[in-house]
Amino acid sequence: MRIILFTGKGGVGKTSVTAATAIKCSDLGYKTIVMSTDPAHSLGDSFNMEIGDRPKHLKDNLFGLEIDVHEELRRNWGKIQAFIKKNLVAMAKFNDLVAEEFAVFPGMEELFSLLRLKGFHDKKEYDVALLDCSPTASTVRMLSFPDIAEWYMEKVFRIERKIMKMARPVLNPMIEFELPNDEVYGTIEMLYQNIDGVKEILCDDKISSMRLVMNPEKMVYKESQRAYSYLNLFGFPVDAVVVNRVFPPEAGDYLARWQEIQAKYLKEIEESFSPLPILRSSFREVEMVGIERLREMARELYVDRDPTEVFVVEPPVTMTQHNGSYCVSLHLSTAHEKDLQLSMYKQELIVRLGSYRRNILLPRAVADKKLVKAVFEGTRLNITFEGAKDM
Ligand SMILES: Nc1ncnc2c1ncn2[C@@H]1O[C@H](COP(=O)(O)OP(=O)(O)OP(=O)(O)O)[C@@H](O)[C@H]1O
Ligand SMILES: [Mg+2]
Repeated sequence: MRIILFTGKGGVGKTSVTAATAIKCSDLGYKTIVMSTDPAHSLGDSFNMEIGDRPKHLKDNLFGLEIDVHEELRRNWGKIQAFIKKNLVAMAKFNDLVAEEFAVFPGMEELFSLLRLKGFHDKKEYDVALLDCSPTASTVRMLSFPDIAEWYMEKVFRIERKIMKMARPVLNPMIEFELPNDEVYGTIEMLYQNIDGVKEILCDDKISSMRLVMNPEKMVYKESQRAYSYLNLFGFPVDAVVVNRVFPPEAGDYLARWQEIQAKYLKEIEESFSPLPILRSSFREVEMVGIERLREMARELYVDRDPTEVFVVEPPVTMTQHNGSYCVSLHLSTAHEKDLQLSMYKQELIVRLGSYRRNILLPRAVADKKLVKAVFEGTRLNITFEGAKDM
């Protein structure tokens, strides 16, 4: 199964681009499931159809799904939910309805989406799964969840479960709330076991790709650069950039100034993300709602490309950490050692190689270190950062 995730800043067009991609994939004959991990759930609005928390048939080869956290909790994790609700009602004197709302923690939509995705992957029921993710920061959190979960399970959970087994009979009569029983721990353990393996699937560039959706505007572009760096740092394969809402040349005088602004940022986007392909979609006169409009959007985005293709095989930028030092590795189309100029501006690494220029916004942990060396190895330029930066 091929998995493609769409993420980007709020309101840039993630849902529309995901829905458009879903139309194209299903038109090409792939059995496709499109799902949203965003609690705002606008996938149904985009298709102009009701979508629920079970795969709904939308057109030939296309199924849609919107995760309902409350339903998932009831179905799979009822024991945890009952436990939290009971304590909230007893301790904070919440009424049942309010307690039900609070028993849902931030990030649960994402967690359940990953579990569903893993289920689809393992059952091989679909050829393609497309995910309309929440805005970038939550997506990065969602993707790093399996790592954090693994650490928690290894280092904390099993010990805590054992301690709790001994402490519960002693402590329960003395405190106002109930300590989690072994059934609750059992359910949590099952949840983590299910998530095991998701990270490998999402980091495998033959299976999964992330596509960053943005608009050619300053704030949006900066956030996308940051997201790209974090995705690289975590090893998630980004294989394309989608620039949406580009004003077409025939937009008229009223938007002339905007077109200049967009042209400036389109150039910066190319400098920051090349050689990733940049898929473009113009600002339409109408909302992107309904199958026909989405199909048009897909035509503009992919022209005659197959969206399920892996657009970039060798990652243009990778970031790795080793004993407190970081290596930022750039893939260059040809090896050239002449004219290399490296500079840092705030958190940004600027690489100039003759006419080639790349701007890479570094994660804070990397930017706070000193750039110590840059070495060419074949078609890769490896830049090492270590130690604290001079003040
Ligand atoms: N190229 C376009 N031309 C015109 N309207 C568009 C275009 N792309 C998206 N829209 C419209 O912009 C609005 C926001 O788009 P969309 O819901 O896809 O963004 P989003 O990134 O998913 O937002 P959110 O972060 O809130 O989930 C919608 O009304 C959509 O129809
Ligand atoms: Mg959306």
